[in-house]
Amino acid sequence: MKSGRLLEDIKTKNDIVDFISSYVQLKKSGQNWKGNCPFHSEKTPSFMVSPSKQIFHCFGCGAGGDIITFVMKHENISFQEAITLLAKRAGVPLPSEGTDKRASQKYEKLRDVLSEAGRYYVTKLKDSARAAAYLRDRGIDAGSIDTFGIGFAPAGWDNLLRHLRGKGCSDALIKEAGLAVQGNKGFYDMFRHRIIFPITGMSGGIIAFGGRALDGSAPKYINSPETTVFKKSDSLFGLSAAKDEIRKQGRVIIAEGYMDVIICHQYGFKQVVAPLGTALTPGHIQKLRALSSKAVLVFDGDAAGRSAARRALALMCHNNYMAKVLLLPDGEDPDSYLRKYGAESFDNQLRYAKSVVDFLFSVPAGDNIEIVREALTLISGVKDLLFAGEMLRELAERAGISESTIREEFKRVKGLNVTAVPGPRRAFSCEKKSEEHLLLSALISFPEKSDYILSRLDMDDIEDKVIASLLRKIATLGEMWGATQILDIADDEERKMVTRYSLEPGLDPEQIDKSIEGCFRRIEQRKLSERLRLAQTSGDAVLANSLLLEKRSLEERGL
Ligand code: CTP
Ligand code: MN
Repeated sequence: MKSGRLLEDIKTKNDIVDFISSYVQLKKSGQNWKGNCPFHSEKTPSFMVSPSKQIFHCFGCGAGGDIITFVMKHENISFQEAITLLAKRAGVPLPSEGTDKRASQKYEKLRDVLSEAGRYYVTKLKDSARAAAYLRDRGIDAGSIDTFGIGFAPAGWDNLLRHLRGKGCSDALIKEAGLAVQGNKGFYDMFRHRIIFPITGMSGGIIAFGGRALDGSAPKYINSPETTVFKKSDSLFGLSAAKDEIRKQGRVIIAEGYMDVIICHQYGFKQVVAPLGTALTPGHIQKLRALSSKAVLVFDGDAAGRSAARRALALMCHNNYMAKVLLLPDGEDPDSYLRKYGAESFDNQLRYAKSVVDFLFSVPAGDNIEIVREALTLISGVKDLLFAGEMLRELAERAGISESTIREEFKRVKGLNVTAVPGPRRAFSCEKKSEEHLLLSALISFPEKSDYILSRLDMDDIEDKVIASLLRKIATLGEMWGATQILDIADDEERKMVTRYSLEPGLDPEQIDKSIEGCFRRIEQRKLSERLRLAQTSGDAVLANSLLLEKRSLEERGL
């Protein structure tokens, strides 16, 4: 466990609004800040950040917590890793012993080995006329080499290994960083005689490498294996270089490969990223959603490109991303296109990128009806109704079918889909608040009432398990407590409840005492009703009668 003081220090020195705004576009809303939730797809902002309480909560999906929770969820890292990251960001020294320290040291060590390897590859590029010539032939200029930290792994089996050993790294650590492979005769370098493209995390630190062969030797590319710090299916090449531009434009361009990203940036298209040779995944979209809600997918116009575009579009639609597709002429990728036709021409291509409906009709996979069906299935995944409506209108027009028929059919298709597509959790305001929820809300918004509430409350009467355990934890906090203290000891589900009640426009201060009394009365009533039911089913008429009277009198004393 972390000491409370360290956590407090880390939290006070990292402002949550400041921190989250580098990932999510936030707008001021009353005392709080509001934006589109990075943890689920939405078009209407329900993600709130409170500067005074230093917490966030999404009223759409229920996610919530403090800055540490945010970092853990957003970067998909452990509590310890989040602490390390935030401590580093705020310049808070971490304690030097204990198992926590060991875990964070491991993480740090991997990142250190990787950046040392990155530096090594960069120096080796400077030594190699052949590698420099290769990059020159491919049109990559000095600025790009610098921006992307491009390097070179010389031929040979253990150049990097020897270099890193010389810096005091163990073979085990080098292997854990994905930089060496263990064979029969010992360790050898993962990357040999290849151009090296560092793969970075959102904030620019190296998490892996991609290596391209200089000649025709296979495989053309290799990537680092997955490690503690690198998950391939979540990583996008170029994201740290592109993120500011993506945020600025509210739009991302997704290409297919390393060279595409580098050349696009070089030609001024700095909002371009690419997955690492895999299809697009929900993990990629989650990373991008914090930055934009629109995308252009650029694919080769050949058959493989078209079918990849189909799958990617379905995924984007499903995640409420407004996506268009650009199919380049057969055999071209953005890299070759830009070098052949220039930036202006590429920009024109982007301008005429096809909408989903347009795309389905332009590369038909069947007759008119079959295209309409495919489109409807795609649109049924779109959770945003305005966006879906627009697509339906376009579909009707394009297919030459009346909009009402399209909508009729859409309802049917969507009906088939409801179980397959889980929407965000029902917004809280639609739920009927139970007395237990109200009491918790009162406790959180009016800590001065907590002594009274906790002393009157019989924990065994609380039916909601999360609320019950949360109340028990709050009861252990003693005098000095606030949302921050609860969050430190709350589990996942409990935390969501705390942040939700901390940010939800709560109970009327004028009415608070009356509301609290009302809650207790309803809990009493609930208990009485239950006893009454038992008495009735067991045939105890006398008891039933007296309980009934008691219940009536309680009701009369009430509202
Ligand atoms: N890729 C890979 N392994 C391969 C081939 C490709 O991981 N053997 C991944 C790389 O991330 C590559 C992307 O798939 O960037 C796209 O592949 P491709 O279009 O073949 O390569 P380009 O990026 O266009 O590279 P180049 O122009 O150098 O051929
Ligand atoms: Mn290429």
